[in-house]
Amino acid sequence: MATQPSRRSILQVAGTVGAAAATAGTLAGCGGSSAAPAQTTKAAGSALKAADIPVGGGKVVGQVVVTQPTAGTFKAFSAVCTHEGCLVSKIESAKITCTCHGSVFDAATGAVVSGPAKGPLAAKTVTVSGDSLTLS
Ligand code: FES
Repeated sequence: MATQPSRRSILQVAGTVGAAAATAGTLAGCGGSSAAPAQTTKAAGSALKAADIPVGGGKVVGQVVVTQPTAGTFKAFSAVCTHEGCLVSKIESAKITCTCHGSVFDAATGAVVSGPAKGPLAAKTVTVSGDSLTLS
């Protein structure tokens, strides 16, 4: 005899589909050029502490990823993946990874290390003043 889905399992599936649709809408918004300035503006001018950025690692601030590929050298790039617009989320071993589809970028240059992304992360400006980093 075939098993009927319970009312609870149907509701769980409906909730999951709804959440996925909301996420897709959010991601689609992130990929558009009109969404970037608002987040970038929020990050622009905000001071970060150099100590917050690990050597060989980095941190995503709004739609910008700040890295410290070697001690005392700070770089900043758009955190919007050039593949399909997800925000990159993992920075370690001098590599920036977009976990959506696995693209990997060089934390020093933003260049693609491995796809599916084909284009580099756009460079941003990070200014160091003492222990403070300012994005613009
Ligand atoms: S959106 Fe980043 S790898 Fe696809």
